[in-house]
This record gives sequence, C-alpha cells and structure tokens, in this order.
Amino acid sequence: GKTPTTTAAQAARLERRTDLNAAEAVYREKVKSYDDSSMLDFLSARSLPLTGSSSSHTNSEKQRFLDHREFIRKTRESLPIYFCRSELLRYIGENSVSIIMGETGSGKTTQLVQYLYEVGYASGGKQIGCTQPRRLAAIGVSTRVAEEVGCTLGTTVGYSIHLDDMTTEQTKIRFMTDGVLLREVVNDPFLEKYSVIVMDEAHERSMDTDVLLGVLKGICRRRSDLKVIVTSATMNIMKFSAFFNNAPYYEIPGKTFDVELEYASTPVEDYVHAAVIKAMEIHVRATLDSEKQHSDTTTTTTGTTPPPTDDNGGDILIFMTGRDDVYGACALLKQRLHSMRRPSGEHWDETLLIIPCMSEAVQNSAASAVLFDPAPPGMRKCIISTNVAETSLTIHGIRYVIDCGMMKTNVFHPTFGMNTLKRYPTSKAQSNQRKGRAGRTAKGTCFRLFTREQFTNEMLPATIPEIQRSSVDTVVLLLKSIGVRDLSGFDFIDAPPEANMRSSLWQLWLFGALDDAGDITESGRCMLEFPVNPTLANILIHSTRLKCSAEVLSIVAMLSADVKSLFEMPAGKEEDARQAHGRFANGESDHLTYLNVYQQYQQPGAGGGRQWAREHFLNVTVLERAIHVREQLVEKMQRLKLDIASAGDGETDVIRRCLVHGYSLQAARKVAGKWSEYQSLLNVGVTCHVVPSSSILNAGTVPEYIIYDDLMFTTKEYFVTVTAVDPAWLVAVGRGLYTINGGGSGAAVDMGGSGDEWAVTLSSSCNAAKELRAERAAA
Ligand code: CDP
Ligand code: MG
Repeated sequence: GKTPTTTAAQAARLERRTDLNAAEAVYREKVKSYDDSSMLDFLSARSLPLTGSSSSHTNSEKQRFLDHREFIRKTRESLPIYFCRSELLRYIGENSVSIIMGETGSGKTTQLVQYLYEVGYASGGKQIGCTQPRRLAAIGVSTRVAEEVGCTLGTTVGYSIHLDDMTTEQTKIRFMTDGVLLREVVNDPFLEKYSVIVMDEAHERSMDTDVLLGVLKGICRRRSDLKVIVTSATMNIMKFSAFFNNAPYYEIPGKTFDVELEYASTPVEDYVHAAVIKAMEIHVRATLDSEKQHSDTTTTTTGTTPPPTDDNGGDILIFMTGRDDVYGACALLKQRLHSMRRPSGEHWDETLLIIPCMSEAVQNSAASAVLFDPAPPGMRKCIISTNVAETSLTIHGIRYVIDCGMMKTNVFHPTFGMNTLKRYPTSKAQSNQRKGRAGRTAKGTCFRLFTREQFTNEMLPATIPEIQRSSVDTVVLLLKSIGVRDLSGFDFIDAPPEANMRSSLWQLWLFGALDDAGDITESGRCMLEFPVNPTLANILIHSTRLKCSAEVLSIVAMLSADVKSLFEMPAGKEEDARQAHGRFANGESDHLTYLNVYQQYQQPGAGGGRQWAREHFLNVTVLERAIHVREQLVEKMQRLKLDIASAGDGETDVIRRCLVHGYSLQAARKVAGKWSEYQSLLNVGVTCHVVPSSSILNAGTVPEYIIYDDLMFTTKEYFVTVTAVDPAWLVAVGRGLYTINGGGSGAAVDMGGSGDEWAVTLSSSCNAAKELRAERAAA
C-alpha cells in the first residue's frame, strides 16, 4: 500500500509557512506533542529517555501528557453538543440532508466531525469533509481538531485551502474552504471521495456556500449514500430546510443567559466616538461596582481574608465595521481612559486590556492568546472587533456588547459593473446575533448604537446574501466549469439578479473565458485556478505573452493585499509622509507606483526592509502580505506552466498595456476642460473624479484615457488606483469593444493629438458593447 507520509512538496510548504508565520510553528509543535498514537514521539520530541535511570522525570512528562488528554476529554464532554451526541447521530443516520442549528460555542464545528469519525463515517476509504467560509477558519479549526483527536495536523485531520494542501492519503477529516470543495467538483462531479460533507457556518451565506448548496443538492439526488450536513448559528434555518425540500432540522439545546437591551435615544452620528464613551462608562461603573461588592464582603466577614475574586464584572465586546474603525476606536479609548485618573493616581486605562480583533488576529497565536485567555486579575478585556466575532469565534466571559449597527461589505455597483466596499446597516438577524454574544457565560447587556425606531424601520430582517449583492463573475465561471450551461436553470438557494449574470457573461466573453456558445475556454479554466478575480487573473495570463509577468505578479499581489492602507499618514507627520511617499510616485500610474514600493521593499541591499518601510511611512503588514500572495501566485503560474519573464528596467509601457487586458471595461476618458474629471467609456454620461491622492495627478498634465481598479465613495464618487493608457491599447483588446471615431477612419491613434479630432468609444457594431451599455444605463 501507499505510505501515508507528507510529500516533499508539502513539507516544503510547511517550512515556508513556518517562516511566514511563526505562530503556526508553535501550534504544530504543540499538536505534534499530543500524538497519542505514538507516545514515543511525544517523549523523543523532548529528547527525554523513555526508559533509564531518571524515570521520575519521564513519569512526570508522561503524567503531563495524560493530564492533558484528560483535560481535552473533560472539555469535550462539557460542551452542549455532547449531551445530544447519540440523538444527533441517529438523526443524521436517518436523513440524507441534515440541518443542525446551535448557539455559537456549542461544539458544532469542532465536535461533529469527530463524532462522525468515531462512529465510522470515514471507513471504506472515504473522507469526512467540512467546509468553512474562510481560509483562516479552516486552518484554525483543523489545528484545534487535530489536537483534540491527538494527531499531527496533516495526518488524520488536515486542511486544504487554495494553494495550500495539508492532507495526505491518511486523512479522514478534511477541513477546507467552500471554494476548494467547489473546485473539486470540476474533477470529481459526484464528490465520490466523501461519505459526508458538513457545510459549516452556512448562515454566512458566502458566495461559494450558496453555489455549493445548489451543487450538493444536485449530487444528493444522484448519490443516496452521501450525507450532507448543514450547520448554522440560530439564523436562516427555515431557509435551508425549505431549500432541501423541507428537510427536518435539529436544534442543539444550549444554555444561554438573558441579555438586556439598551438602544440609543437619538440616532448616533459618530459611532466610533459613541462606542468609546459607552465602553468607558461600562468599565468605570463595573470596576467600581465590583470593588464595592468586594469591600462589602470584607466587612461582613471581619477577621477573615476575603476570598480572592476572579470575577471582574465581565468583559466588553465592541462591534465595529472594519480595520480602520477598529484601530481608531482602540486608540481613542486608550487615550480617553489614560486622561482619567483615580484618586489613587492610577490611570483608568491601566485596568482595561484593549484588544483589536479581525480575521488576521485569529491566525496569529500570540494575538489569539490575548483574545481568548481570561484577563489578568484586576483587569478587564475590551475586544474591539470586526464582524468575525459575530459567529465564528467564541470568546468567553463577555458580558457587555456594544453594537455600532453597521458593517462593511462588498456591494455590486451596477452603474460601474463592479464591487465596491461600503458601510451598510446590519440586518436585524445580525444585530440579534451580536447581542447574543453577551449572554454566553452569564446575564449580560447589549448597547445598541442606534435607536429602536432604526432597528424596526431601517434594518432588513436578514442580511442579503453575497451572491445577490456582489459581482458574480467567479460564480458564472465556476458554474460553467462544472458544466452548468443554463445558469438561470441552476438551483440557487437565492438566485443572483439576472442583470448581474448577464453583465458577467459579457465580461467573461470579452476576457476570452467563454466562447461564442457561452462555454468555458481553456483560458477560462486557467483563470479559475488563480485565487484572484477574473479581472486580475486575465492580466496575469496575458503577462506571460507580453513578457512582463515578474512585474505584473507584484502589482497583482499588492492589489490583493489590501493596498489601500499601504501609505500611512500619522497625525502630525503628514508632510514628512507625503514627501517620503512622493519618491515612489509614477506620474502615469498608481499601479506602477505600487510596483515601485514593492520592488524597493524587496531590495534590502538597496535600503529596503522593515525599518526602511517604517521610515518611509509604509504599512509593513501590507507589504509582507503582498510578498506572501506573490509567492502563491508564482507557484500557481509555475504549475500552469506560464512563463515568468521580466519586462526589464524602465520598460513600463508594456506593463500598462498588459493591465488593459483586465480593465478594458473599467476605462474612462477625460472630460474636456476639466482637471481630474473623467467619463466612463462604457457608461457615457457618468463622470467621476480621480481620487486626489492618485499619483497621476502629480504630473503637470493629466492623461486623456485611463483605466481604474476601484471606486471609492466619500462625499463624491472617485476612481481609485488609476493608470494612463494609450487608447489604441483599448481598441486592440476586447474583441472589438472599442473603435476609433473621427480623425479620419483608420487613422493611427496618437496620444499626443489634441484629443478633439478623434475619440475611442464603444463600438456600435459590437453586441457585447451594446448589451453592456444597456445594462449599465438601466442601472
Ligand atoms: O461551532 P460552534 O460555534 O458550535 O463551537 P466550536 O467552534 O466547535 O467550539 C466549541 C468549543 O471549543 C468552544 O468552547 C470554543 O471556545 C472551543 N474552541 C477553542 O477553545 N479553540 C478553538 N480553536 C476552537 C474552539
Ligand atoms: Mg462553528
């Protein structure tokens, strides 16, 4: 038989990840040491002799190991799901589709797969699959489950995420993202290798989850032996049941405590400020209360020392919308509390542990330790979080929740045919979920930074699923790749708007991802391989032909690494920062500006590196992430046998030309006589300004034609991340989408021309152009 060992490639990947994330290494060490299939390993890992004279030492090590196993067992047996284990397994056994609902923390994610494993679902060479909507969740959960099972991660328990497969022949429980499982359907249409698939956190309704639900429903009809289990927090449950032909659902009984609600009396203008004031109030009041209680106990039991109390009155969890708010609130809270002193002279911030929490934090073990560990004696935790703490994390000891009532989310902008990140009010279901976080361990309170009227009248009952509010380019391509020809006939739990699908079909056809019959092409399949959207994937693919992949890879990596927070502007140092940033500016292109930063950062000899980045007011996290993303993309390119050549020093035109292959639909022409105002080529009549910080506005003149990566909404709509292009490039790509008008037919396009004699416009003979224009105009 095959030896279930880690392949060299996997080992190499492991090593690399270790470099990138020391936290992982710590985890792995820990997990490795609990491999109870081999106590020897555990002991030898610590270079301790198993036999020999110093047996007392060995015994204590052995004891520690056994104690730890015992601790794990006890913890597992205390979870709400444990008390209905056999009932749950019977219910799963009786149904082909099971829907399981339970409070966050009841044990759905970590226990269910283990139960299935224990009763033999992974026998006969089949695997138990469990999907997670987020990559980091897949890693985190599989690490935890491996520890509980007592095996090395990547053996019995493993995970597969895009570009990172930590599974072997031996793997029985496989965690993965929804996207990875969907892509498996391409090669294994009936998912034969699985006996059961748990779709975890289905309530999040990510785009991939939704597509997967439809795909699995179809597979279930063909495979009576496959079990599908959908797990969800206490939201949307009827919706899932209805979708699976009224499948019965099972609720894990769980203990929760009452949560008192307090609404704002008037609408809140600045929720960061309001949240900070509320947190201060809570912290001060709860501290004084618990001190009072403490001294009361002391006086009644005179003579004896009061028992030390580790009840600090409860921790605080604040929901903000995104990274900016989270950090903003952290800083403001710290500053405000620091300015207040107690009679003893102590500053109020000394007793509050302020912890930012976002999905990255969960990956970093140092950061997640502060997040999950109880606050030190005499301290209170205040966790300021994005919506990751809504359902996917369980933090014990929270007794106060402050909910700003907003979230940041990607929304399809039909006028421009693309996604934009915007702040929106949360839904009622989401706010109630946030409220529930306060009642996990004891009675709690939830402060809503919105009025009762706003809750009743302005909030939607449930969050609109991603598939109905985002660009569906990837969905369309995925469905095409698994042979779904008629998209409108696909069994969606909630279908995306027809117009979005049509817009995507045209765009994909323009990219060459679909042929004239609407079937996926080789190039389309290739695009799906990249963990970026089709726009960027198409640029990568074309970069091989244009021999500028080395540079384009860096640009795409930067764009995928949250590049908007690259340039830092610390208060009081704006002028210094502007000067430092100016060194990177490329007057023709923000994309090339990012490339400059990336290249200089990557040259430690020439002064790059972390310290250098800080001196130049650059966000090191963004740069490090870009390096990581680029490595993944390089690996992908190599696997697809796509050549990675460099354009060479100073050869930037070819890079800009390459970008046009992705952004051909995101092109605009300068409005005559206006500085920085542009009109979308696809949507005549719609004008937008280039964002003032763009490097193309640094030069004395502004270009006639541009492409843009993104839109931003503040007081106005802005084009963000802009590059000047030669209009001839627009004409050359895009299957006849654009033509040259005026200036004599067939005249060569000359960038230096006055721009009045001729223009590049949408072609009137191109169907795609007509259709797309109509879509946008209707929006
Ligand atoms: O999925 P669900 O929210 O129902 O619960 P879970 O994620 O399986 O968590 C069950 C318990 O394990 C909770 O008490 C978590 O706090 C704990 N847990 C943990 O301590 N560390 C992890 N990495 C995951 C879960
Ligand atoms: Mg869970």
